[in-house]
Amino acid sequence: MNQSGSHQLTSQHLQRAFEPARLGSLELRNRVIKAATYEGKSPGGIPGKELYEFHREICQGGVGMTTIGYCTTEADGRISEEMMFLGDEAREPLKQMITELKHTGARISGQMTHCGHFSKNRNLQRLKRPKGPSPQFNNLGMAVGMFWTDAMTERDIDTLVQSYHDAGVYMKEVGFDAAEIHFSHGYGLSQFISPKTNRRNDRYGGSLENRMRLPLRVLEAVRKAVGDDFPILGKMGLTDAVKGGLSEDEAVGVAKMLDAGGIDALITSGGTSSYNVMHMFRGDSIAEGIADMQPNALMRWLFRQMGPKIFKQYPYKELYFLDGCRRVRDVVKNAQMVYIGGCHTLESLAQVMAEGIDFVQLGRPLIRDPAFVNNAMAAPDTYHSGCTECNRCVTTIEAPGGIVCHLRQ
Ligand SMILES: Cc1cc2nc3c(=O)[nH]c(=O)nc-3n(C[C@H](O)[C@H](O)[C@H](O)COP(=O)(O)O)c2cc1C
Repeated sequence: MNQSGSHQLTSQHLQRAFEPARLGSLELRNRVIKAATYEGKSPGGIPGKELYEFHREICQGGVGMTTIGYCTTEADGRISEEMMFLGDEAREPLKQMITELKHTGARISGQMTHCGHFSKNRNLQRLKRPKGPSPQFNNLGMAVGMFWTDAMTERDIDTLVQSYHDAGVYMKEVGFDAAEIHFSHGYGLSQFISPKTNRRNDRYGGSLENRMRLPLRVLEAVRKAVGDDFPILGKMGLTDAVKGGLSEDEAVGVAKMLDAGGIDALITSGGTSSYNVMHMFRGDSIAEGIADMQPNALMRWLFRQMGPKIFKQYPYKELYFLDGCRRVRDVVKNAQMVYIGGCHTLESLAQVMAEGIDFVQLGRPLIRDPAFVNNAMAAPDTYHSGCTECNRCVTTIEAPGGIVCHLRQ
């Protein structure tokens, strides 16, 4: 295709990104969704003014929908005490925040999640120790003296399913327009899906069907809570990118099961916070920044020594999950598709649209430029958010005030 032809094609497809579209039964003003990026702006677990301001800028900047990241379904689902959980104290602040945000014309989604055994939360309420599918060494909790995690009993599993159900009721009640269930990144549900962390030999472990039993029960419970007219998105892993973890072949099976279970849309991510986080957000290593954030000299020294081993190098490239997303799209019958991962240029956005993928989620470009959509529509030939994939935003997750893009300061 000649240059002007391909430009024509690109601009048509780019245009598609900025036109209204339906996510299940919900109309969005365009196809660009802010990805869940835990912002660290809920001091003491209460969604604060800073969280509101962060999302207000993004909503006013033109996205079709924003996602409030990492809303845990119960207090013990938090990685640390500073995370929000969907309990009584957060109810009114959330209600107010969502009401205000909706005035911008954007839709508001919330990511429902639970950390399972990936926890350094010393203020556990229901549990004595964090629990996942199988007992294991707690590499995250090590720093705060929580060395081991336990296996969930069947009763714990039932309690977890109920917490998702109740969170679904709660989310509808406080005004969310959609819910995104986190099935990936090494958190609770993904720990069950992954053969690396799930070594159970009961009906929740072993075959993929068994490892999917809990995630599918959760989907069913959330659907029951929110009804058919409320979109449920699922963020799934394409691979854990670690030896013995979830492979892309199995992930295709996961997608088929979530699709058959009635999920409205699938977001195809990858990597895990526990074993290989850089697979998820390619670009500059976070090793140095994470070391700087450690609370004491010993931990800082430890991270400096271990950092390069823990945080693998994944040089940035655009659309790094596109092949996996295509594989999932090709087997899914009913669910809509949401692309995520390195869609940072308008050319990439146009390409995702040209593939027929329904929506795109953006993380870092919107942290860099909350007005990405408005600015891109105003200058479709020249716009770039300015994100350099330096990943310093990631290293500020636990900084006072939460994440910042240092290029905006
Ligand atoms: C600061 C930061 C926090 C994140 N927190 C979450 C989170 O809470 N839940 C989640 O599913 N993904 C989280 N992610 C991953 C993003 O949703 C997304 O998958 C990743 O950044 C790749 O997309 P991007 O290239 O558009 O940034 C986070 C990413 C960043 C940069």
